[in-house]
Amino acid sequence: MRSHYCGVLSTANIDETVTICGWVDRRRDHGGVIFLDMRDRDGIVQVVFDPDTEEHFQRADKVRSEYVLKITGRVRARGEGTVNPAMATGEIEILGKELEILNTAATPPFQLDEHTAVGEEVRLRYRYMDLRRQEMQDKLIMRSRITSAIRSFLDSEGFLDIETPILTRATPEGARDYLVPSRTHPGQFFALPQSPQLFKQLLMVSGFDRYYQVAKCFRDEDLRADRQPEFTQIDIETSFLGEDEIMAITERMTRELFKATLNVDLPEFPHMPYAEAMERYGSDKPDLRIDMELVSVDDLMQQVDFKVFRGPADDAAGRVAALKVTGGAKISRKEIDEYTKYVSIFGAKGLAWIKVNDLAAGVEGLQAPILKFMPDEVVMQMMDRLGAADGDIIFFGADKANIVNEAIGALRIKVAEDLGLIREGWAPLWVVDFPMFEDNGSGGLTPLHHPFTAPSCSVEELQANPATALSRAYDMVLNGCELGGGSIRIHERDMQEAVFRILEISDEEANEKFGFLLQALQYGAPPHGGLAFGLDRMVMLMTDSASIRDVIAFPKTQTAACVMTDAPGDVNAQQLRELNIRLRQQKEPAEG
Ligand code: AMO
Ligand code: AMP
Repeated sequence: MRSHYCGVLSTANIDETVTICGWVDRRRDHGGVIFLDMRDRDGIVQVVFDPDTEEHFQRADKVRSEYVLKITGRVRARGEGTVNPAMATGEIEILGKELEILNTAATPPFQLDEHTAVGEEVRLRYRYMDLRRQEMQDKLIMRSRITSAIRSFLDSEGFLDIETPILTRATPEGARDYLVPSRTHPGQFFALPQSPQLFKQLLMVSGFDRYYQVAKCFRDEDLRADRQPEFTQIDIETSFLGEDEIMAITERMTRELFKATLNVDLPEFPHMPYAEAMERYGSDKPDLRIDMELVSVDDLMQQVDFKVFRGPADDAAGRVAALKVTGGAKISRKEIDEYTKYVSIFGAKGLAWIKVNDLAAGVEGLQAPILKFMPDEVVMQMMDRLGAADGDIIFFGADKANIVNEAIGALRIKVAEDLGLIREGWAPLWVVDFPMFEDNGSGGLTPLHHPFTAPSCSVEELQANPATALSRAYDMVLNGCELGGGSIRIHERDMQEAVFRILEISDEEANEKFGFLLQALQYGAPPHGGLAFGLDRMVMLMTDSASIRDVIAFPKTQTAACVMTDAPGDVNAQQLRELNIRLRQQKEPAEG
């Protein structure tokens, strides 16, 4: 139908007759001459119709925003003073000769250039319109380029793209399952995969050696800006490679991806043990673009009477951490109150602070409600440890270590955002040496990664000290976002059984849920490991988007619904009967 995309036309096409197809972005009538801005996925070009071409001029006069047109005309240079440097095609225009209306359009639910005024709900309801915006087109085009670059890297490294089932059994990654009732097996359910974890391990048992998949994963969990119930992983598994080799190859993949798509040379990826990340940043996904760090002052606080600090300082599971904000003394009382409210979201019971006005004057030069509770020399030792200077503020968190880490770790990022202390650019790292397990809150243990992750010790050592055992897991973190995570897997049945026992999964339950895996492990399972990247998060970061919803064509809302198709929806009684399902809360489904 067409000879050119709108956005590609330039002065090189002057005097050519071209045919374009696209949507009317804008129509203007200037004293008997009609200007149409025509848009397709490549950009916008201006078309001019003058009354000389009478029949087509009449038609141009009738078109409205978002009509679909086919236009043939001659490319010409724009006149003196009408060149538009803000537009890629701004040096030229098309003098329209023929216009065919391919389709009309009702008045759009919102003006595309006024999308911010309508709110996300409306944009999602009319997502196909929202996606016409150049910004959204660019994001999805970038997403396609990113997947394509990743595929070609992995293909060239000998990885095989193998699909795994969507209708399957539960694959535990720590979230709730989406269940699908089976018609042919009354009362039984499939689970949608939280990840292809077990299948990719079984592919290693089968000898495929290097696998990848652009895999849809499903997790029924609380949603946030970087979480969707249905999302995409770049899922990778390899045999006979150790963690260093797997990290090296996927780091190279990330590096080449950034070079190919953004022309960015990523800096070094430091390797940081989990314990160090928690100690210095209060987070297992530290944003290294921010220089501020948490500093432990427990030893000093063991010397004070102030109960708020002394209690956690004396408690082995407690922590007293200080966060020095350079130039933060200008933060007002009102802002401190707001930060106090902010850290309370994470369970902090308060937020103590000291402002440093004039360090040369000793404690006299400091300002804080808590100073009276601490000996002067302890305060000054602390200033020394923190390298405090005039104009700083120091915040304190004191509680169980996990609360302090979460609260002060989050405060670090919030303050950095508010005061503009986040460096431009990219700060990647690997977080390594994760604990195998964490407290499940009711006296037991739960895996920090998933239960198929290998420990870095023997079965006996693991059984003796499960709570302190480390795993062979690794996470790739970029600018404070967990891009991907993986591990070396357990490839021996006795180790897998030991882990299930530590997780208090009975032999019976283990056999019921994972019997096929345990069995496979005894038929010559090679040492193997891998990882999975969150593709949506990767694209979000690479397109500088605020949410992964912006880089998914048809995302779900915060309540895990699709307002465009109105899913999830009711099903009729007949379907329920076939599935052997009776609804408890009787909102009668439509008969049909
Ligand atoms: P994990 O659960 O860490 O590991 O997931 C891997 C990556 O997937 C992304 N991700 C998500 N993205 C959007 N919405 C979600 N709800 C969501 N949940 C996770 C993150 C995360 O780093 N099978 C293991 C991987 C392995 O061990 O090989 C797994 O799924 O970016
Ligand atoms: P209070 O003695 O409770 O009035 O607290 C004195 C100061 O310590 C106030 O600034 C509180 O915000 C702060 N504070 C209270 N509990 C904590 C805590 N767990 N961690 C840090 N600061 C706290």
